[in-house]
Amino acid sequence: MGTIQINNLSFKYDQMVDNLFNNINLSIDESWKLGLIGRNGRGKTTLLNILLGNLEYQGQVVSNLNFHYYPQPVSDMSKTTKEIALEISGLADYDIWRVETELEKLQVSLDILDQQFETLSPGERTKVLLAVLFIDDDGFQLIDEPTNHLDIDGRKLVSDYLRTKKAFIVISHDRNFLNEIIDHVISINRNDIDVYKGNFDTWEHEKNLQDTYEADQKRQLTKDINKLHDSAVKKENWSRQTEKGKKKNISMDKHANLDKGFIGAKSAKMMKKAKSMQHRVDDSLNTKKTLLKNIEIDDPISLNYAEISHLKNLIEVNDLLLKNRNVETPKVSFKLPRNHVLALMGRNGIGKTTIFKQILGIAQPFECSGSIVVPSSVKISYLAQEYDLHGTIRELAERKKVEPEMVFSNLRKLGFERELFDNNIEEMSQGQKRKVALAVSLSEQANLYLWDEPFNYLDVITRDQIVDAIHKQHPTMLIIDHDLGLIDEIADQKLILKK
Ligand SMILES: Nc1ncnc2c1ncn2[C@@H]1O[C@H](COP(=O)(O)OP(=O)(O)OP(=O)(O)O)[C@@H](O)[C@H]1O
Ligand SMILES: [Mg+2]
Repeated sequence: MGTIQINNLSFKYDQMVDNLFNNINLSIDESWKLGLIGRNGRGKTTLLNILLGNLEYQGQVVSNLNFHYYPQPVSDMSKTTKEIALEISGLADYDIWRVETELEKLQVSLDILDQQFETLSPGERTKVLLAVLFIDDDGFQLIDEPTNHLDIDGRKLVSDYLRTKKAFIVISHDRNFLNEIIDHVISINRNDIDVYKGNFDTWEHEKNLQDTYEADQKRQLTKDINKLHDSAVKKENWSRQTEKGKKKNISMDKHANLDKGFIGAKSAKMMKKAKSMQHRVDDSLNTKKTLLKNIEIDDPISLNYAEISHLKNLIEVNDLLLKNRNVETPKVSFKLPRNHVLALMGRNGIGKTTIFKQILGIAQPFECSGSIVVPSSVKISYLAQEYDLHGTIRELAERKKVEPEMVFSNLRKLGFERELFDNNIEEMSQGQKRKVALAVSLSEQANLYLWDEPFNYLDVITRDQIVDAIHKQHPTMLIIDHDLGLIDEIADQKLILKK
C-alpha cells in the first residue's frame, strides 16, 4: 500500500518574511479519504502544489503515487468539452468512453461533450473536470474546493460521487460536504499541521477539547505569572531602596561604612533573586505563547448598517421576467421588508445573479418585463459573485470610496495577516481575495445588502463571524447561496426559483 511521507518540510514564497510551513512531518496512507482544512491563506493550495512538485521546498516528500489536481487549467475555453477532456487526460480519441463512464456517474448528459466548454454552467464544468480527474484509478487526486458555485443538487451529486472513491485529498470549507465523504482530516493550524482520524465533526470536537485545555492552561499560567511578577517587582524595589538608602547613609554618616559591606551583599543577592524571578516570568510568558499557539482568533465583526426607519419595504419586485435568446428567468415577485434577510435560491443557471444585477440597475442584454421598486434614497452594498480585484487594498478602498483604515480593521478581525496589507490582491489566495471584497462591503455604509454567494471560499471561522453579525444586527439583506445549513441559520424567508 502506498503512502505519502512528508519529512521536515519547510516552505515560503520568495516575497515572504516568515516560512509558511516550518519543519512539517506527516504520514498519509493511500487508502484514506482526506479533508484538508484551515483558515484562508494557511497554505492548503500551496501544500497540494508541493505534492504535485510545482514548488521548490526544503525537506522531503516521499511517495510513489501519481498526483492529479482539480481544477485543471483549461487552455482554451472555446474548444469543445471533448477536446478539453482529451487534452487534459492525455487519452486517445477512442478512449473517450472512460470519461463518459465517469460523466454518467455524475449524471451529466453526454451531449455536452460536443458543446463549447465556455458555454457550460459552472456546475457542469466542475463535474466534467472531476470526471476527467478520476479516470486514473491508480492516481491520488488532489481536489481544491470543488463545491464553490455548485447548487444544492450538484453538491449532493459530487459528494455521493466522492463517497464511492478513495485516495484523495479534498479542500473544502463546507462542513456538511466534508462530513459526508472523508475519513481523515489534515488541519493546517496557526502553528502546525495535524492529522486526525474521523470527519469534520470529529475534528471539531477534538479541537474544542484542545482549545478548552489551552484556555485553562492560559488562565492558570496568567495567575502564576501575575504572582511571580508581583513578587519580582517587590524584590527589585526592596533591593533598589536598600541601594539608595545605603548611598544616603554613606553621605550622612561617617560610621556607616561599618554596615556597607553587609547591606551591599544582601541587596545584591536580592537584586539577583529579582532578576532570576524576572527570567522565570519571561520564560512563563514564552510558554504561554506556545500553549496558546493553536487557538484561532475570531473577533466579532459588524456591518456599517444604517437602518431606514421610514421604509417598510426596501425592495418590491412584481412579475419580473428577464429573457434573451439563451436564458429566461422564472417570473418572480417578492417584497423585502426592513431588517429581513431574504435568500434567493435555485439551481445553477436559473438567473439569480441576473435578477440581482437588474435590481442594481446594471445594464444587461435582456428584455425585461414586470417592475422593480427600490427607493432612490436606499444605499446598497453589493458583494458580487465574480469580481476582478486588482492593485492594492488601499487603492481598492479609495476606488470604492470607503475609509482604507476601516477596511484594514475589518480584515484584521477576519484573521487576515497584517503583512499582506500592501500586497497586490492578484497574488492573494482565493479566500483572501474574498475577504477583501467582504471587508469593503462591511465598511461601506449601507441600508441594504445584496450579497451573491458570500460564503464561497471563506473559512469556517469567517462564515461563523458573518452569521453572528447578521444575527446581532438584523440588516436588510438579499442573499444568494447554496449552503443550506448557513441559509437556514440566517434567512427570515427563502424564495426558491423554479421553472
Ligand atoms: N504565487 C504566490 N506568491 C506569493 N504569495 C503567494 C502566492 N500564492 C499564495 N501566496 C500566499 O501564500 C499564502 C498561502 O496561500 P494558499 O493559496 O496556499 O492558501 P490557502 O490555504 O489555499 O487559502 P484559501 O483558503 O484562501 O484558498 C497566502 O498568504 C497567499 O497570499
Ligand atoms: Mg486555496
